[in-house]
This record gives sequence, structure tokens and C-alpha cells, in this order.
Amino acid sequence: MSLPTINPTTTKAWEALKSHYENIKDTHLKDLFKNHENRAHLFSVQWKDFYVDYSKNRIDKTTKKLLLDLAKEVKLDEAIQSYFGGSIINETEERAVLHTALRVPSSHTIEIEGKNVIPEVDSVKEKIKGFSDQVISGSLKGYTGKAFTDIVNIGIGGSDLGPAMITESLEFYKNHLNVHFISNVDGDHVHQNLKGLDPETTLFVVVSKTFSTQETLSNATTARNWFTQHASKEAVSKHFVAVSSNIPNVTNFGIAEENIFPLWDWVGGRFSLWSAVGLSISLSVGYENFEALLEGAHEMDEHFKNTSFEDNIPVILGMLSIWYNNFFEAESEAIIPYSQYLHRLPAYLQQGIMESNGKSVDRNGNPVAYQTGTIIWGEPGTNAQHAFFQLIHQGTKLIPAEFIGFKHSLFEDQDHQDKLMANFFAQTEALMNGKTEAEVVEELTSKKLSQEKLKQLLPFKIFEGNKPTTTVLIDKLTPKSLGALVSMYEQRIFVQGVVWNIFSYDQWGVELGKQLATKILTEINNSQVSEHDSSTQKLLQHYLSK
Ligand code: F6P
Repeated sequence: MSLPTINPTTTKAWEALKSHYENIKDTHLKDLFKNHENRAHLFSVQWKDFYVDYSKNRIDKTTKKLLLDLAKEVKLDEAIQSYFGGSIINETEERAVLHTALRVPSSHTIEIEGKNVIPEVDSVKEKIKGFSDQVISGSLKGYTGKAFTDIVNIGIGGSDLGPAMITESLEFYKNHLNVHFISNVDGDHVHQNLKGLDPETTLFVVVSKTFSTQETLSNATTARNWFTQHASKEAVSKHFVAVSSNIPNVTNFGIAEENIFPLWDWVGGRFSLWSAVGLSISLSVGYENFEALLEGAHEMDEHFKNTSFEDNIPVILGMLSIWYNNFFEAESEAIIPYSQYLHRLPAYLQQGIMESNGKSVDRNGNPVAYQTGTIIWGEPGTNAQHAFFQLIHQGTKLIPAEFIGFKHSLFEDQDHQDKLMANFFAQTEALMNGKTEAEVVEELTSKKLSQEKLKQLLPFKIFEGNKPTTTVLIDKLTPKSLGALVSMYEQRIFVQGVVWNIFSYDQWGVELGKQLATKILTEINNSQVSEHDSSTQKLLQHYLSK
């Protein structure tokens, strides 16, 4: 069944939200809290080890009701069935979207065009497990009989960001293997990484779903050339493995068929870390932890699939994002993890969210007349507080922010953890409350400032407040909770795409740049600039004159 194709702005709920917005837009969060003693209870969800508090958002009961009515009117429930059921919901590429099938237990059956895909998924998992165990234990050896010490993941986009983000997030759980990520076609990236490596003990994992991506093929070729400067060509098969759905291209590149970990066209690149694309995760933290990651994601999938919209975390988060994007006209959202381990999460989510929902044509093929994809950015707290929080507190733009924190730290240094979390709670409170004129006067008076100085400083020290935040408080950063967290965002992407009536699982917009780059590269190689606009022409001439 295809996804419904309802223009959200034609729904009753959208109209009602528009007039409701006029009523609520100037209400201060502080007043919303004053009016409802039970607000924190009313607008929060406790699910397993997740506590999601969305009460510091500019909503009331009516807002929530209308947002959920909108989800119902665009038939989100039907869309969820089609998605999990393996329908071809990525219509422009004629593919199912089934990364969720990668994390179901073996006993499940998921069919694509009448064929259960789970046995195949399980056999690849077995291959990942067997290979990871051998590399970690040292029983698999390099060409001179030494155990591997370093793993190099070569890939880009979803073939890099997912494994890199998870590997860094789970650094606490990692084993002795050093894992490196090479993605950029900037030669300095690959050469800088190769510089410190020993070819006898380095294993390359070349990850590319299509095995046609310029960056990845260039980096893999450079790595192979570096390797064969030290070892024979025959030794390549012991040191290079590939993850891809394009077997002919991999074998043409010179990687033996038994060294290929397959994936399927129903796994989108930016949702692929749960497949063999996550091989470097499994190598870094062991297969059991990789499996726990999948288990956590599966539990969140089940929550999403089976929970009523009223208490459904991805649905609520997705609809809140729509509330700010389409009614408050907020352009961006900040994601602030209060964990240094999660420092790559915002970058990972930038691809997930922006490559999926950065679309301007609806599922009927018509241009959309409303805003879609939000701009995502962020950095870990508390560092972010000392960088860009000023703009969130006192700038002119409304930036809804999501705070992700953990009750327990991994090294159990309670002194640091309490300081970190004190900041975590303080920021959402400060963003909500701001600081009134009376409070500033009181503060400055207590500092015994002259009346003149006080008057001068007053306007700069007032914070309007009323800045919305959502808090996701999780017990502890574990492979399982991380899996659930990432799935929470994946499902939120789906919710927003369905409501906006766009196709979230293609990415045609990145193709044009790729095509032009190929054309320009030929011109550079031939030192001959063809017809361009005068700016590009001059820039190219300038580059070639070096
Ligand atoms: O940037 C476009 C894109 O197709 C992403 O969606 C994908 O994750 C990335 O390129 C890498 O693609 P591949 O795994 O085929 O090399």
C-alpha cells in the first residue's frame, strides 16, 4: 500500500491549529506552568529507561489534541502499517523502507514481494559475528601472520556517519582495536590517517551501498595503493573487505566475493548502520554490544508501532517539530546531548533529518506551499553553552532545543556528573523563565550599583525567556539505550515526512552536484575550462593557474 497523499494544509486540524496558534503564540511558558500545576505530568512520557519531558514547550492541551488530530487526518496510522509492512513507500526509487527489519528477532517474518527477508538478514548477522569474533580474538591474521590492531572504515554519508557516530558514542565499551574513519575525498584525510598505520596489522572495511561513490572509491584506491607498496597484490584479499549491495562493482575493484558483506536496496544509506554497514561498530565493541544496539532500536520501533499517539514518543516529538516549523515559522532546531560521547550525534542527525525531509515536492508531484525539513544543528553541552547558547537565549530567532542527558555517567565520577546535570537542568529552566526586569533590578541593586549604571545595564540583562525545550533523560548510555535513541529520531523523521506529504527516503538533490563535479573534473584534468557562468569560469581559471 502506498503512503496517503493528503496535503496537510487542507485538513481541518491544520485550519484549527492556525487559529489556535493566534491564541497561544504570545502566551509565556511561565504562565502555562502557573495555570497547570500538573503540567510536567501531563506532558511527559516514561518509557522503559527514557523519561521524555515536553512540558517546556509552547503548547497546551488543545495544541496537543490538534497536533494529534492532524496526524490522524493525514492517516499516519495507515502509513505506519505500510512502512513496517514492507510496502514500496520509497516510490521514486521503487523500494521498500525496511531498516526496521534489520533489528527484529529471528522469529519474525517480514516479507517483500512475498519473500521473507529475515533468514537472509540473519545469515549476514552470523557473518558479521563470525568475522568480528575472529578479528577481535586475533585468530584472523594479516599477510605476515600478525593479528589486526587497526580497522579503517572507508565510506561517506550513511556509510560513514552512522558507524562513526555509534563507535564514538560507545567508546567506553570498545576493545583493543583502533578504529579510524576516512570519508572526505580531500586527500589530506586519507594520507593523514594512513601515515600512522602499519600495513601488516591494518584491516580496511570499504563501505558503499552503491560502490560507485567517487569519494569512497578514490579513498579505497589510495589505501590499496599504499597497502601494495608494502605487500603483494595477493595480500589485498586478507586486508580488504567490503560492505555493499553492488557485488559486481566490488569484485571489479578487486575484493574477493567471500570478503563481501551484502546489504539490500530496501536499506537506505542514512538508515544503514544496523546492517553490515555497522561492521566497524561490531569490530570495535564486539558483536554482543552490536546486537544490544539493534535490540534497543527494535524496542523503540515496537513502542512507535503499538503505542497510541497520545503517549507515542516519536509521534509527539515529530508533531512538536511541525508545530514550531509550520506555525511559529522556526527555521532550525538545536540538538544538545549532555554527553561528550555523543558529540557526533548532531552531525549524524543532520544527514538523517535533512537528507530525508529537505524536500519541496509533495507525494503527488506538486510543489509544496508550506515549509518542510527543519535545519538541525548542535554540539554537546556544556561546551555548547560557552559557544552558541547566547543566541538561543537572547537572539532574535526562535530555536526549539532538545536536551539529551543521562542519569548515570559511565566512569561514575559523581562530582562531574552532578555539575554536568546541574547545567543540563539549569539551561532548560533559564531558557523557559528568562529574567524579568524586576529580577535584574534586584540583582544589580544587591551589587550596590549606582542608579545610573543600573539603568544603563538593565536592557542588556533582561532575558525574555519563553524558549521551548524538550528533555530526554535516559538512565545510562548503553548500546541498548543508544539504539533506542537513534530509532526514536528515525521514527520522528518518518512522522514528519508523512505529515508533510513528502518522500523521505530518496535524495535526488545530492545528484546534481555529483554530476557537475564529474564534468568539472574532466575539465581540470584536461586543463581546459568549458562554458560556465563568469564566476565559475574565473574561479576555475584561477585554480588552474596555480
Ligand atoms: O549523499 C548521498 C548518498 O547517497 C547518501 O544517501 C549515502 O549515505 C551516501 O551518498 C553514500 O552512498 P554509498 O553508500 O552508496 O557510497
